[in-house]
Amino acid sequence: MKVKFSVRSLLIFLAICFTTLPALLFGVYIWSAALVALFCGLLGAGIASVVAPNFKNLPESTANSRQAEFNAISRIADTILIARSDGQVTYLNDAGIRMFGDVLGKQLKDLIGAESAARVLSIEQPPEWKGEVSARKSSGVMFDGFLSSTPVLENGKLIEIVAIVQDITDEKAARDAVIQSEKMITLGELVAGTSHELNNPLAIVTGYSDLLLEEGRLAPEQRSKIEAIRRSALRAANVVQSLLAFARKRKPERVRTDVNLAVNTALRLKEYDLHTSGIRLEKDLCPTLPPVFADPHQIQQVLLNLINNAQDAFLSGSRSPRIRIRTEASDHAVCIRIEDNGTGIKKTDLKKVFNPFFTTKPVGKGTGLGLSISYGIIREHGGQIHIQSQVGQGTEVCIELPIDDAGPGGIPRIPGDHVLPKRFLVVDDELEIAAIIQSALSRRGSMVDTASTMEEALGLARRNDYDFIITDIKMPGGSGIDLYKQLCAVNPSYRHRVVFLTGDTSNPSTIQFLEQEGLIYFSKPFDFQAMERFFNGQV
Ligand SMILES: Nc1ncnc2c1ncn2[C@@H]1O[C@H](COP(=O)(O)OP(=O)(O)OP(=O)(O)O)[C@@H](O)[C@H]1O
Ligand SMILES: [Mg+2]
Repeated sequence: MKVKFSVRSLLIFLAICFTTLPALLFGVYIWSAALVALFCGLLGAGIASVVAPNFKNLPESTANSRQAEFNAISRIADTILIARSDGQVTYLNDAGIRMFGDVLGKQLKDLIGAESAARVLSIEQPPEWKGEVSARKSSGVMFDGFLSSTPVLENGKLIEIVAIVQDITDEKAARDAVIQSEKMITLGELVAGTSHELNNPLAIVTGYSDLLLEEGRLAPEQRSKIEAIRRSALRAANVVQSLLAFARKRKPERVRTDVNLAVNTALRLKEYDLHTSGIRLEKDLCPTLPPVFADPHQIQQVLLNLINNAQDAFLSGSRSPRIRIRTEASDHAVCIRIEDNGTGIKKTDLKKVFNPFFTTKPVGKGTGLGLSISYGIIREHGGQIHIQSQVGQGTEVCIELPIDDAGPGGIPRIPGDHVLPKRFLVVDDELEIAAIIQSALSRRGSMVDTASTMEEALGLARRNDYDFIITDIKMPGGSGIDLYKQLCAVNPSYRHRVVFLTGDTSNPSTIQFLEQEGLIYFSKPFDFQAMERFFNGQV
């Protein structure tokens, strides 16, 4: 026969033993002792049945099921905690102990921060509170948590709260990434449209400034005013270029790329500048770095953005300013770390640095696009970009690019091999732009015709043999690319003699076409000296 003892009967039995035995020991020879013993026993039993846990008063089957519930709660995967109205933690299940450590008796604010703790323990709180909290693990590491708290009330007064906490770090990172990329897409579309419209007027301003500056007759005062106009237009043009780079939606032109080479190229452009600013540059490049499959120009652009940021992070008079660039390889990725010991970034700003147009720099110094462009480029490459910073200590940006498993690739081609030009045809529906290029080239001794439509250009090309045809891309009645195709159909040697002018770098199909064909293009507003070098075959 199976004998079952309930917890309650066991407690009553023990109480009778512990209260009756001493009475018997002292009063064994006295008759009345038996009465005293009986009285004590009954009293003990009464106390035991009162102090026994509530569920022990229940019928045995119910008590067992409560015990099972209690065990289940202890083992549930999410953290469950109970805190008294004064904030003291009185219960944590197993998951809670794994998450927060042994914090029984500690204050809720030590776990989830003072602000969140005050909110859930507030007297005026709603019946239930759910929301995101920034919590601290037992290791001291902060994490993003989702907390759902239920108050336990007695006569309308808060006694304790029961809360469930989940670690949502990964979900939040994924959600933030989606929001970030959606923001980029919307803004990209807006920016692409407006930037294009700014390029032509800017090309006219810089173009006429260049032409005027080439005239020897200018008084010094006039010269300095024109130079100021030119500088401002170029500054505006740089902003437009940044916007267009941001808006660019084309897929990167990826080839097998040596990351150390990209780092060295970017550094070559900045070395002198950093040196004259008194910033020490430390380089630690892994000699056995595997290649990545990437667009080397875009990777250089990202590196320049990051080096510029590091450089800007030094206030004048900073002590031993230093920028350190390291490359290393892990199993699947190549990692580039750019570290500075500059001002660092405030915690509240750190969340916003990848947002387009977020800048703490003065007007004219930063557009707030460097990091958002870099973010877009690295994500397009299937990589990751992280930033860590401590105010007063410095910042480290880490880029991870997947290692190239795709086998050997090519190196981007920069076409050269040009004959010294004598005759040009300039095709642009913006007559001012055609006129500026015409005057600049004529001054350098070339003969220049102009055309404002594709038909006119084709007619002139049939009658004359031009060394180069410089054409705008977007024109009414046929694009620059249509013109190129028709010219090549008549005379294939035009393949190397048509040069494009474009402000429309955001049009993916155009850029794809130009780059696939290895064609030359100059972005508006253009730099005459760069153009001249090109036409002289120096590039
Ligand atoms: N290394 C760094 N040290 C300190 N602050 C930084 C660093 N890198 C970025 N930041 C902060 O992030 C902001 C955004 O950087 P981002 O490169 O996107 O724009 P910007 O540098 O302000 O302007 P732009 O790059 O368009 O010229 C900066 O204004 C700066 O506050
Ligand atoms: Mg920047």
